[in-house]
Amino acid sequence: MPQQILILDFGSQYTQLIARRIRELNVYCEIHPFSSAPDLTEDIRGVVLSGSPCSVRDPEAPHPDLTAYLGRVPVLGVCYGAQLLAHQGGGEVLPATIREYGRARLSRLDEDNPLMRGLISGSQVWMSHGDTIKTLPAGFESIASTPEVDVAAYRIEGQLTYGIQFHPEVTHTTEGKILLRNFVVGICGCDQSWTPEHFVDSMVLALQRTIGEQDQVILGLSGGVDSSVAALLLHRAIGPRLHGIFVNNGLLRQFEYDDVLHSYKDLGLNVRGVDASSEFYAALAGISDPELKRKAIGRTFIEVFDREAQKVDGARWLAQGTIYPDVIESVSVKGPAVTIKSHHNVGGLPDKMNLKVVEPLRALFKDEVREVGEALGLPHPILHRHPFPGPGLGIRILGDITPLKVDLLQRADAIFINGLKEHGLYEKVWQAGVMLLPIQSVGVMGDERTYEQVVALRAVTSVDGMTADWAHLPYEFLAEVSNKIINQVRGINRVVYDISSKPPATIEWE
Ligand code: XMP
Repeated sequence: MPQQILILDFGSQYTQLIARRIRELNVYCEIHPFSSAPDLTEDIRGVVLSGSPCSVRDPEAPHPDLTAYLGRVPVLGVCYGAQLLAHQGGGEVLPATIREYGRARLSRLDEDNPLMRGLISGSQVWMSHGDTIKTLPAGFESIASTPEVDVAAYRIEGQLTYGIQFHPEVTHTTEGKILLRNFVVGICGCDQSWTPEHFVDSMVLALQRTIGEQDQVILGLSGGVDSSVAALLLHRAIGPRLHGIFVNNGLLRQFEYDDVLHSYKDLGLNVRGVDASSEFYAALAGISDPELKRKAIGRTFIEVFDREAQKVDGARWLAQGTIYPDVIESVSVKGPAVTIKSHHNVGGLPDKMNLKVVEPLRALFKDEVREVGEALGLPHPILHRHPFPGPGLGIRILGDITPLKVDLLQRADAIFINGLKEHGLYEKVWQAGVMLLPIQSVGVMGDERTYEQVVALRAVTSVDGMTADWAHLPYEFLAEVSNKIINQVRGINRVVYDISSKPPATIEWE
């Protein structure tokens, strides 16, 4: 195991951000719920206690015993974490009488303290708490203040334990990164060696150790970043014993099946393409309900994939492109119960196939997957591909699905996506696509009246797809795309642009 920082999560919305900031320093870290804190091992070089929506005075608030860590390894309490240590030490944590939310400036700081080194007086910090530390316990010393908050930061004498009441992980704390580097590098002594190249080398070794020498591994490829990076890692570890299966469900983008299959082959991957379009169309015939369509697509995928996997002799493992946000256990603030998120794309597969699961990306955030992909030489178009739903165009054709409708939508979609690429807009939006609506509208073409279909263009900006805003694409660009679609795609005579944000709308229309 690499040296690492342990982040104990008390339910703050910012916990994942702490992890990302630490990893940006090339230091590995893991998030664990406070209720299942791991034992201290040699790899754990420091502990960060996260914030929480709770108050330490709340009887239901998390009050774990931290003596296993305190004094034995450096500890940094952030917000709730800082208040918890002060409270447990016998200090006074009370509701803040003045507003302690938003921007503040450090008015005093102990520049000689290793946590504060390099920060300047007047530095902006971000506060977000209802409680505040009024009095510190004996043996605690304040090392920074703002005009309103006397104990913006403290240290415990004789230990490498620190508390800060502001959030160093958010960008509004302008020198937050310096503070985090002071902690993880200066105080914890981490050597910043966790780079994408290091990850690749150690993961390849780990995969070689885990997967038996004769074992064959199966991986479903989608053309997306995660499964492609997982494939490259496994290929480097076990070569042709990785058997990639890329299924054409007939609901991919125009030319996607051939293009992606070629890219995989160019990379030297052992991949089998399976064109099962007609099976999927048969399973979908006459179904209009979005959830029933998803179920039919999911069921057919499992059937096709299972059948193809059976053809691989000696298959012992199913590889999956699961990433870290899919596996982080989220803390329930009302008690120690935790829930584990399930990955909606892969549900059911491993159980049915009786294979062991290997997930080489389960420690990585999405942007880290891209960095690893880059280190492995994954081509730019796959590396920077927009997210695309598993059921594909099946949930972008409103109503029932026919091969003709798929063809219509593929052609309109290709005009939009190629247009975004040609105008340098593709990488400025998070996801884009076209929806084929189940309505017809009147138009004129030449002297004739037409009665044809309507499509909606959808392009959004987002960070993780949980919230999204419609992309403010230039009118000239939208006009050009609309003209091209109407002129080139027979059967579509009207194009509209979706200007709804999520929430309350969703990204997909079904
Ligand atoms: P919504 O429409 O919920 O989409 O705002 C959020 C993200 O999830 C994708 N999406 C899906 N992905 N199976 C998938 O694999 C699905 O059934 C599905 N539905 C939505 C959507 O494309 C967006 O990236």
